[in-house]
Amino acid sequence: MTTTAPSAAASTAPGAAVLAVDGVQIYNHLQDTVTVESISFEVRPGRALGIVGESGSGKTITCRALLGILPELFEVSEGTITLAGRDTATLSRSEWTALRGTTISAVFQDPASYLNPSIPVGKQLAEILRVKKGQPRRAAKQNTIELLEKVRIHDPEYVYFQYPFELSGGMLQRVLIAAAVACEPQVLIADEATTALDVTVQAEILDLLTDLKDSLGLALIVVSHDLAVVAELCDEVLVMREGQVVEQGPTERVLYEPSHEYTRLLLDEHHRFGLERFLRKPEETA
Ligand SMILES: Nc1ncnc2c1ncn2[C@@H]1O[C@H](COP(=O)(O)OP(=O)(O)OP(=O)(O)O)[C@@H](O)[C@H]1O
Ligand SMILES: [Mg+2]
Repeated sequence: MTTTAPSAAASTAPGAAVLAVDGVQIYNHLQDTVTVESISFEVRPGRALGIVGESGSGKTITCRALLGILPELFEVSEGTITLAGRDTATLSRSEWTALRGTTISAVFQDPASYLNPSIPVGKQLAEILRVKKGQPRRAAKQNTIELLEKVRIHDPEYVYFQYPFELSGGMLQRVLIAAAVACEPQVLIADEATTALDVTVQAEILDLLTDLKDSLGLALIVVSHDLAVVAELCDEVLVMREGQVVEQGPTERVLYEPSHEYTRLLLDEHHRFGLERFLRKPEETA
């Protein structure tokens, strides 16, 4: 993209963690319960962290805390989240708005629900560039077409004018990924981003995420029920259960030598579905 508009993104020293989560607890004031307990991790440019765990274990709530969009009555009650060198607890609402998209961004399941059904997808992407980056109409359109190419959409000039209902689930997820990386964020969260897609399309999207991570130097956080997804994409894994991190470490170690019974259970389930095809043996990576 060729823009000279000043970026709202905060900066990170080379090689430093772009996002550091330290001892974070997330409290639910509605039920007076701790939803997530003492979670810590770091992500660096060009690296990927996987978060796995059963439904309701707190994966999405954790991601929402990272994005500054916790549901009402949820609060980061302990610990710190440092995003591009800034303690997010100190951010005002407008500072958060400026950082979202430009420094940290996300894609979720069900891409159609994030798009306006009555506006062509290209125009919706161009609007992001106009609002967030101050690009004039013509440049925003040209850059949108480049973005659509970047997420490997063929015939982007044609797709630009298509409405969400005209596109498949895989295509819509590509459009949402394009929207998420439009303002060159440093961190991208993919929360069950491929769960609803069929296996072939899922593989294509995972491949695209890996490609973007490497080419744009994104720090990627991948949330999935599917250990195979995490095994394929991630350098490190964090296993959650009932709001607690039961295990975390390098992917090969966690998946080959799990030290927690729960991780072993998750692995047993997945071995039946051929996790091996995604795993490199530790000796191969040494
Ligand atoms: N918007 C919300 N309002 C109230 N409670 C919520 C909300 N979102 C999540 N919770 C609660 O917070 C806890 C953690 O939920 P979360 O969505 O983080 O789970 P998850 O690990 O992402 O599960 P899944 O794998 O099903 O997506 C659950 O007890 C859930 O009921
Ligand atoms: Mg979730």
